[in-house]
Amino acid sequence: MLLKGKTAFVTGGGSGMGKAISKLFNKQGAQVAIVDWIGEAAAHTAAECGTAVMPLTADMSREEEVAAAVARTVEEFGSIDIVVNSAGVPMAFTPVEEVSLEQWHRTMDINCTSIFLTAKYAVPHMKAKQSGSILNICSIAGVRARPGLNAYCASKGAAIMLTKALAIELAPYRIRVNGINPGPAETPMLSQFLQGDAEQKERDTKEIFLSSVPLGMLIQPEDIAEAALYLCSDLAKIVTGEIVNVDGGRGI
Ligand SMILES: NC(=O)c1ccc[n+]([C@@H]2O[C@H](COP(=O)([O-])OP(=O)(O)OC[C@H]3O[C@@H](n4cnc5c(N)ncnc54)[C@H](O)[C@@H]3O)[C@@H](O)[C@H]2O)c1
Repeated sequence: MLLKGKTAFVTGGGSGMGKAISKLFNKQGAQVAIVDWIGEAAAHTAAECGTAVMPLTADMSREEEVAAAVARTVEEFGSIDIVVNSAGVPMAFTPVEEVSLEQWHRTMDINCTSIFLTAKYAVPHMKAKQSGSILNICSIAGVRARPGLNAYCASKGAAIMLTKALAIELAPYRIRVNGINPGPAETPMLSQFLQGDAEQKERDTKEIFLSSVPLGMLIQPEDIAEAALYLCSDLAKIVTGEIVNVDGGRGI
């Protein structure tokens, strides 16, 4: 029970890594606000957890919705000790001249600005307790670029630097801020990086993603959840500003 007595606010909790993190954190004793812009998905995750979970519907790129979700969590559970930013959107490989400004902004807003927004509203509660842990699910694509993933790579690179900027700013308040760079992971998101029909996507998943992982396996959401548990628990009480690659060696 590494998170007994803690309250966690997990974004993107309706699917993939956010779902696995919500379930593991709850199993380890945390009260969990499971936040997703697809309310039904958040509710499904909550149904798979034990007690002391609360599904919330909110778009993490909209300031008023982030503010309301944080306020509701504090109202229900009394505090926020942990924020995990897992909400994110992919982009299909697209030549830069075909990327619309709207798509660019949307990718940056959801993958990076959302991290600023959850910090803006959760950090005052953490400062009041002089403790807290923020974990950002970034990407190995934030340090190792791929052709055609221009906006996605930029949004994740920004997320990595924001992680470090917040870590140095919040260290005096004993608030730790870390990141995880997943490699290609077997979640609903993976095939959305690809163009083409289902058959083509299945072929490309093997050829492009699996072959890029030295350990020869796609990453599982549970692999990310276990690293998240370490970083958000007191096991990592002296770790901040760190970005951990959980990527089967993709980043080497
Ligand atoms: N799957 C991969 O290969 C991979 C690799 C590296 C990094 N990542 C990153 O890991 C994180 C989790 O991805 P995943 O693979 O679990 O994807 P996923 O699609 O399974 O889950 C993402 C969840 O975030 C939610 N979401 C998206 N935008 C939102 C918003 N604005 N507000 C609230 N909820 C929102 C979605 O509804 C979904 O439930 C993402 O940030 C992603 O960029 C994924």
